[in-house]
Amino acid sequence: MSGRLEGRLIGLGVTGSIAAYKAVELLRLLSAEGADVVVLLSPAATRFVGPLTFAALSRHPVETDLLSLLPDGRIGHIVVGDTADAIVVAPATAHFLGSIANGLAGDVVTAACLATTAPVVVAPAMDGDMWRHPATVANVARLRADFGYTVVDPESGPLASGQTGIGRLAQLPRIVDAVVAAVGSRPVRSPDAGARPPIVDVTLRDADLVGRRIVVTAGGTREPIDPVRFIGNRSTGKMGVALARAALDRGAEVILIAGPVEVVLPDGVTIIRIESSAELRTALGRAMFEGPEPVDALVMAAAVADFAPVRPSPVKVHRGEGLTLELEATPDLLAEVSRTVSGGPAERAPVLVGFAAETGSLARAAEKLRSKGLDLLVANDVAEPGSGFGTDTNRVALVDAGGTREDLPLLSKREVADRILDRIAAALDARDDAAQTAAGASTAAPAHGSRHG
Ligand code: CTP
Repeated sequence: MSGRLEGRLIGLGVTGSIAAYKAVELLRLLSAEGADVVVLLSPAATRFVGPLTFAALSRHPVETDLLSLLPDGRIGHIVVGDTADAIVVAPATAHFLGSIANGLAGDVVTAACLATTAPVVVAPAMDGDMWRHPATVANVARLRADFGYTVVDPESGPLASGQTGIGRLAQLPRIVDAVVAAVGSRPVRSPDAGARPPIVDVTLRDADLVGRRIVVTAGGTREPIDPVRFIGNRSTGKMGVALARAALDRGAEVILIAGPVEVVLPDGVTIIRIESSAELRTALGRAMFEGPEPVDALVMAAAVADFAPVRPSPVKVHRGEGLTLELEATPDLLAEVSRTVSGGPAERAPVLVGFAAETGSLARAAEKLRSKGLDLLVANDVAEPGSGFGTDTNRVALVDAGGTREDLPLLSKREVADRILDRIAAALDARDDAAQTAAGASTAAPAHGSRHG
């Protein structure tokens, strides 16, 4: 039984069930049938299986984010919807069934299903009571009757909950057979490879931070006025968290120092929680200089308060007392790290990346880079629509120590994170090459000769 899907493009949607790991094997089986497979992961699915695994096996970018674009600028889930010969969602959670039955497209998997005229095959996996719930029953009936989807019913057996019953993802060959049957003898929808999602050598690009230790700071700080009040800022932590997640996906060991944030912190990274700039200072010093291994890069995405109350009150200040705050500038933490690093060996010097939140012109960015002693400065105009605090997108300029400025288009924060990490990976490779050349030169030098002799 081989080659039943020869020349076909199959979109494989994976949602956040414990059975998500089985989708890796399903991808292999579909490939063994000759299919070109492109994978879409819901946000919850990425917590079970990393995109890198799917990317390496499918040789296509893995869709995880509705707002991120393919490297060639096209919208990934729409390309899948337009070019796939079938979309198979396996495992499909109760949440997926409910969303799609109601036309809700809040993630790339549901969006691709809505955006396609190709057959859709759905293989649910969930707890038995969830499967039997009238809401799920109604949703499944709707998918079959109104949408013409093929639903591959779950099977009975041991469940993740420890119970035994119905709800296990169907045996994978049954799902493959259902995809083959759904595609049938329809003509290939998009024989032109150029119209399909691009082929990328993702294994190389996405594993380019393996063995690197990266410290990322995210979120804002809270500077205490008294035990109940503080001075804060509008940072949500989205950019820093996107950086931590992207670095993790590319193989780095990530230490995330997070102030108050409004987003979920990623699994798989070391998380250190802080509140004030003083706590951040302590945590940063420990992470940078007291860890078991040297740090390769620091990305300072946290919005550190520039001013803090000089004398926070140890007791709550009552309204009748009135309140006049005296503020003092906080130490520039990034500049402090930079000064400490500059005293160490160049071949181990971490790459230092700062952010500059400006309103209006970005002209001061190059000066900030110089004064803080950075390798890269990410400058953004927080007053511009779609950029800055709380948005999912960002338009930034990358200014490097060589004085070059690259203006990036409006991108998702994940894509901005990847562009920053591209620079870090390149800088670290260059640092290691230089160290190797220097080591080679010193061993090649005559034993008694001086460098100039
Ligand atoms: N930063 C820091 N310590 C501070 C303030 C800021 O390490 N006390 C870091 C931020 O994390 C960011 C960079 O410095 O990476 C730039 O912060 P920004 O507030 O934009 O610049 P400032 O240097 O504070 O300059 P100004 O307030 O004059 O614009």
